Amino acid sequence: MLIKKRSHTDIPSSEITPEHIYLSRRAFMTGAAAVAGAAALAACAPKTDLSGASSVAQLQEATAEPGTTPVASPTPVVIPGQTDELGDPLTSFEDVTNYNNFYEFTTSKEAVAAKAQDFPIAPWHVAVTGLVRNPGSYAIESLRTKYDQEERIYRLRCVEGWSMVIPWLGFPLAALLAEAEPTADAQYVRFETIHDPANMPGQNSPFFRWPYVEGLRLDEAMNDLTLMATGLYGKELLPQNGAPLRLVVPWKYGFKSIKSIVKIELVSEMPESLWMAAASNEYGFYANVNPEVDHPRWSQASERRIGDGGRRPTLLFNGYEEQVAALYAGMDLAANF
Ligand code: MTE
Repeated sequence: MLIKKRSHTDIPSSEITPEHIYLSRRAFMTGAAAVAGAAALAACAPKTDLSGASSVAQLQEATAEPGTTPVASPTPVVIPGQTDELGDPLTSFEDVTNYNNFYEFTTSKEAVAAKAQDFPIAPWHVAVTGLVRNPGSYAIESLRTKYDQEERIYRLRCVEGWSMVIPWLGFPLAALLAEAEPTADAQYVRFETIHDPANMPGQNSPFFRWPYVEGLRLDEAMNDLTLMATGLYGKELLPQNGAPLRLVVPWKYGFKSIKSIVKIELVSEMPESLWMAAASNEYGFYANVNPEVDHPRWSQASERRIGDGGRRPTLLFNGYEEQVAALYAGMDLAANF
């Protein structure tokens, strides 16, 4: 299967929607997105039985806030007719940047953009450390120039049951790891989000063990699909999407795609993620998209594509089976959820 992939500099200017056409379409879509977003929120909220609910569900319910209007954002590079390799159209820039999960700011998806808009993302350094021969600290600008920024159109499937198609910009994590040279003892990669409670109000909540942590097995991290994203829709990432650097692992549920990363550490033991620490019976280490392995509180058999109304069947490994199934040969995918 082909993955849509090209260098950002390959995009011919003739394919880019002139700004005035985009802007007039945007005025129409802002209203449409608000309606679609509100419907999506109601439809994909897990059905919560409070008598037997986990504390994660109670927290989500208790902290939900009303939606907010979209905040001003840069003009995206819109290429008419662009799709993923399955032929699915891209999710609108408005939805991608105004319907977010980023618990450091709020648990309300439609309020993240407004609450994150002033989050300081410069200066920013990322440490590559642990079991490596060449540890380093990289300024974000150097990562942007050191590695070719490719466009990758990937499906993003949230564990909650909604999905999007997003044109990311970024570079393969494998390139950064090759430079770091993991030692023979390195088996896993552990990622950490910045810890900045003064600017991230959610980090003052004692419910989660901050900072947000995620992990991958080293062979998963080296897979060519695994992307360090620096932008989307041809522009640098906005704070709500995990600026200035986030992980994107398209065959796994979205919570693995950790945002606003400051530390990448090679380790010998399986790292415990923030979600595993909060509710290990609901959120496992692997988190591979799988229609046959339900979340304890809801089915994963189908999903709702944001912006298009209906539900569609969930695809094994989110449709990337050909590229990643070999990583899990012989493994029980239900036991290793
Ligand atoms: N990273 C951090 N640091 N904090 C978060 O709350 N949420 C995750 C993931 N990365 C999250 C995070 C979840 S649940 C999802 S679905 C995706 O980010 C959403 O990415 P998006 O808002 O860019 O669509």
